[in-house]
This record gives sequence, C-alpha cells and structure tokens, in this order.
Amino acid sequence: MLTFGVVGCGYWGPNLIRNLNSLPDCEVKYVCDTRVERLAHMRHLYPQVTTTNRFNDLVDDPDVDAVIVAVPVRYHYEMAQKALEAGKHTFIEKPMARSSIECLRLIETAEQRRLTLMVGHTFVYSTPVRKIKEIVDSGQLGDIQYVSSRRLNLGLFQKDINVAWDLAPHDISILLHILGEAPISVNCQGKSHVMKGIEDVTDLSLQFANGTYASIQSSWLHPSKVRETIVVGTKMMLVYDDLEPNEKIKIYDKRVEVPPYYDTFAEFQYSYYYGDVHCPFLKLTEPLKTECEHFRDCIVSGTGPESGGVEGLRVVQILEAASASLANGGGLIKITEPMQAGTPVASLA
Ligand SMILES: NC(=O)c1ccc[n+]([C@@H]2O[C@H](COP(=O)([O-])OP(=O)(O)OC[C@H]3O[C@@H](n4cnc5c(N)ncnc54)[C@H](O)[C@@H]3O)[C@@H](O)[C@H]2O)c1
Repeated sequence: MLTFGVVGCGYWGPNLIRNLNSLPDCEVKYVCDTRVERLAHMRHLYPQVTTTNRFNDLVDDPDVDAVIVAVPVRYHYEMAQKALEAGKHTFIEKPMARSSIECLRLIETAEQRRLTLMVGHTFVYSTPVRKIKEIVDSGQLGDIQYVSSRRLNLGLFQKDINVAWDLAPHDISILLHILGEAPISVNCQGKSHVMKGIEDVTDLSLQFANGTYASIQSSWLHPSKVRETIVVGTKMMLVYDDLEPNEKIKIYDKRVEVPPYYDTFAEFQYSYYYGDVHCPFLKLTEPLKTECEHFRDCIVSGTGPESGGVEGLRVVQILEAASASLANGGGLIKITEPMQAGTPVASLA
C-alpha cells in the first residue's frame, strides 16, 4: 500500500485526490489546505481522510510515502524541497517551480535521496498526445517544419504568474515531448490588459537547432475556449483539437512542394498537393489517471518518470527565457544549454 499526502485542494488538487484514491494499493491519508471550507468539502467526499492546515503533518508522518504539491507555483519549491528532505517521493504540479535554479536544487535533492520526483505535465499522458508522438516518430508527416499551439479562454486570471507561466507549460511540454528536443532560442511578446504587470495575452516563438519553428499563443482574454495544436510536416499536416469529443486528431494529406531549382521568376511555381483527411481511432482515457498510475509505478519500480525533474526544468527554462524576452520587448533570448532528455544532472548545474 502506498500512502499519499496532498497539499492544495482548490481547483486542481481534488482531481489528483480522486484519481489517487481510485488506484489499487494507493490511499490518500492527508489533505492539507489553508482554507477550512475546502477541507470540510474533502472530508465530506472522503470521510476516511485526515485534513490539516499544517503541511508539516504530512512530511513528519513516517506512514506517508509520497507528497503531492498542488498549490500555487510560488509555494512549489519550498514545499517540494521540504517533502524530499523528509524522504518523501514528490509530485509537483506544473510549472515545476519559479526558476531553473529552484528546479535544479529539487532534482539534486531527489537524486541524492534516490526519490521519485515527477512534474504534472498532464498532456504527456493523454491518448491524443501519445498518438501524435507515435505519428511524428513514424515519419508519416515527414520532417517537422512548424508547430502552432493555441490555448485561449476567458480567465482564470492568476495573481502571481502571467498567462504564459499558467497555460504555456501544457503546450511546451507537449511540444518537447513530440519533437524530442529542446529549443535553442525563444522570443515572447505580450500585454497586460486587466491586472497591471501580469500579461494576460502572450505569443511565444521557439526556434530549434534543426530549423523547426514553433509558436504558442496563450490568452485569458478570449471569448471562447480554444485548445489546438497544428503540426506541419514536409509530407502531411496534423490538427489536434482537444475540444473535439472523439475526432481529436485529423491528418491532412496536404503539402506545398517547391521546385528544386528554377532559372527565372516566371518559372517559379509552387505545387499544392491536396489529398485525403484521415482521423485515427483514439481509445480515450483520463490523462490524469494514467499520470497518477505512472507516478505510483515509478515509485514502486524506482524508474524515472516520463515527466521527471529534468523535463520540468526544461519547461521552466523556456518560461524564464520568455519572461526575459517580454522584459526586453520581445527580443531573442538564447537558451544557453539545450537540455536533451536523459542529460545527467551534473552537466546541467
Ligand atoms: N496539470 C493541470 O492540468 C493543471 C490544471 C490546473 C492547475 N494546475 C496546477 O495546480 C496547482 C494549483 O492550481 P489550482 O488551479 O488548483 O489553484 P487554486 O488556487 O484553485 O488552489 C490552490 C489551493 O492551495 C491552497 N493553498 C495555498 N497556499 C497554501 C499553503 N501554504 N498551504 C496549504 N494550502 C495552500 C489554497 O487555499 C487553494 O485551495 C498550480 O500549480 C497549477 O498550475 C495544473
């Protein structure tokens, strides 16, 4: 039996509690929050759970094997570090922390104590994203030229982080997962319209060493909900619309072919190819359930999670570069140490 303590039961924490409690051989013993009404609600849903407003109750209890951190990002580092130092396997919601330095310290602590450290990059565990990765890896789309992601809706405004730090971690983690590499540079522009100094609309561009270009648009100021990623390859194009109930992925056999050489402008002609549209069957499951199962399996087997500390750090490094770019009017920020999955931690420090 694995015993969990969860801190934070606002909007997202209860989803983690529900999924962890549904897993065989897993039990949520503690739920911690500073809001009494949330704790009362959790007791109503799970009468067996112990509720507390003291985080130390979780870390001090030797029965607790793992701690889940689902509080606002400004508390992630402090709580996760405390949990790791107390010998608890630790799951941190996205984004992993406020800075890459904080991420590196957490990775180091987990490594030293041989503990599982996992970050809540939920979409990496979703059926459509796993299918896209399979399609990209198979070469069906050809070489990936361009990826465009849009995650837009009205709210929910955050007080301590801008919309890029709130929403783009999803798109960045999807992008890094399907491309299997990190960008070399980033630009970001944005604007705050509602809360002074906190951008509610951002446009992030990422450049990769092999020439792939990606753009991520994030907004809390959009009348309708948009959750869309488009992957353009040299052979085919793929559209992933997460709001579609079933047909979430469509593969378009469309491309533009440029003649290999031409002598005069008059000879220059693009050739447009229009073919069929294919919609692969997806056996949909709740990504959060797969994510919680993966955390449990990693703890039991001692293997590294697909979204471990290094993957969390890579996302935070891009967000940091985005903030630096926003601060200098959208200028290009080089990511000095592109980190590939599996890079030894020592070489990151
Ligand atoms: N993976 C996903 O798809 C996903 C979705 C939404 C949110 N999140 C992440 O989950 C985390 C929480 O987001 P949320 O939307 O649930 O926020 P929220 O504000 O709705 O809930 C946070 C809860 O933490 C509690 N809290 C704050 N400080 C605390 C402290 N010091 N001790 C104990 N409790 C404290 C608050 O009272 C609140 O109930 C964030 O990191 C967010 O980015 C992830």
